[in-house]
Amino acid sequence: MSVEWNIQLLGRADSTQDALHELIAQNPDLEEGQVVQALTQDGGRGRHGNSWTSPMGNLYMSVLLRPKGELQKAGELGFVVAVALHQAFSSYVDEDEHKIQLKWPNDVLVNGLKISGILLECEPSLDHKGIMHMVVGVGVNIFNAPELGISLNDVAGEAVYVNKVRDKILDKLGESYILWQEKGFAPIRQMWLNEAYGMDEPITARLKGENHQGVFKGLSEDGALVLGSEDGSEKEIHAAEVHF
Ligand code: BTN
Repeated sequence: MSVEWNIQLLGRADSTQDALHELIAQNPDLEEGQVVQALTQDGGRGRHGNSWTSPMGNLYMSVLLRPKGELQKAGELGFVVAVALHQAFSSYVDEDEHKIQLKWPNDVLVNGLKISGILLECEPSLDHKGIMHMVVGVGVNIFNAPELGISLNDVAGEAVYVNKVRDKILDKLGESYILWQEKGFAPIRQMWLNEAYGMDEPITARLKGENHQGVFKGLSEDGALVLGSEDGSEKEIHAAEVHF
């Protein structure tokens, strides 16, 4: 099993997420592996309704995947993508000098600053038990980091080309996606934990306007954040904004 990537490159898009949703609407049988990339976006979207500023010089792409399995497992795909991004960036960066880490749920950091974000949009199957398709958005700062971010070019030990970075990410994503489909979440979870940012550190998880404070204890078996309290108890948080 392998994924064949089919890349459509646009000069400009409102959001590559919308451009790919549109392609799927026009052709509901569109095969997994379709990628829409844009050089710049006018209305790039991030998680939690944030916007994703998208100047030229970075990677903006959305990827169509059709994972088999239950709808509850859809969120695991974010970890599959994060692990692939980590591997792709590792091939550019000297990790004795720069630390690449994964922040729950789906951010990639270099030296504690965000280099890449992942946005998952899922269309459930008609019976709402499985997944019809997922549109996976990936934004990577390559030459243009926002304030409080970092770009791959700042830390790479070699020349960086946006489309080569894209191809490396897709190679690694093909591998991690197939590993997940064949062996389940356990190996991905372990790979993610090996690179986790902020383990055993104080954390605030903001959920529906409420702050939950505790210590970051890792990932549950289904990818929830495990928050430890002073009394030794632990609770699982499935979706939140986290601050270390
Ligand atoms: C995040 O909030 O960290 C996720 C950011 C995801 C941004 C990417 S850029 C390509 C794709 N198109 C979008 O509009 N968003 C995603």
